[in-house]
Amino acid sequence: MEQTREWLKQARSVAVLTGAGVSAESGVPTFRGKQGLWRTYRPEDLANPQALHRDPRLVREWYNCRRSAIAKAHPNPCHYALADLEQRIPEFTLVSQNVDDLHEQAGSRNVLKIHGDIWLVRCTECGRQHIDPRPCLPELPPYCHCGGILRPGVVWFGEDLPQNVWCRALEAARAADLFLVIGTSAVVYPAASLVRIAKRAGARVVEMNIAETVITSEIDAFLPGPCGEILPKLIS
Ligand code: OAD
Repeated sequence: MEQTREWLKQARSVAVLTGAGVSAESGVPTFRGKQGLWRTYRPEDLANPQALHRDPRLVREWYNCRRSAIAKAHPNPCHYALADLEQRIPEFTLVSQNVDDLHEQAGSRNVLKIHGDIWLVRCTECGRQHIDPRPCLPELPPYCHCGGILRPGVVWFGEDLPQNVWCRALEAARAADLFLVIGTSAVVYPAASLVRIAKRAGARVVEMNIAETVITSEIDAFLPGPCGEILPKLIS
């Protein structure tokens, strides 16, 4: 903790990669682990374009469940600590795999949502997208003005990340003096590749997680525990 505090003091450029663990203390379920969503549901039935065409009702119900869980959630101390940190560091980029908007609600500004946004819906035909803030989408399946089916504006398995957002995430990882990896299992690519990219470019890498992950042996420091407790302590 003391060493990381020192690195943080000296850093001019900080990049952060967050994952579902950051929103866990807000009541949003993670994907992996004992109570992870992918224990009960199969991503291939829900989070890919074929699933939408095969069973639009199932996909809609699943995203409505996630929308309502996220609608009820509020930012936790980790979200607020990250927003606070952004104010103190000259160059600060928050790269999030989360599709909720809890970082923004906490006041973070420079957020790159590499896996999209659950509140966005996008037409599968014309590509137009808009924010739909309803916790439950009623139509079955929801249609665009052009007649195409609307889908969630999130990245599904096998799909490319939004290129402009991803390029900015790469730049931030390469420019960082300090790279924080918080609440992610770091098994989903290309998001997880940012850790090695930052390290190779010379950043110190610090991980915060309740459990060790596949990257723990490669990084400079591991701070074990719930990030809603650790990060506020680190920046206090
Ligand atoms: P995972 O569910 O894979 O991992 C969550 C991580 O958070 C685990 O390593 C937990 O140990 C850790 N964790 C849980 N509670 C925590 C807490 N209070 N404090 C700190 N750490 C905690 O979630 P992600 O790594 O985000 O993809 O998953 C990556 C991607 O896989 C997601 O973005 C999603 C999913 O399929 C898409 O939606 C494209």
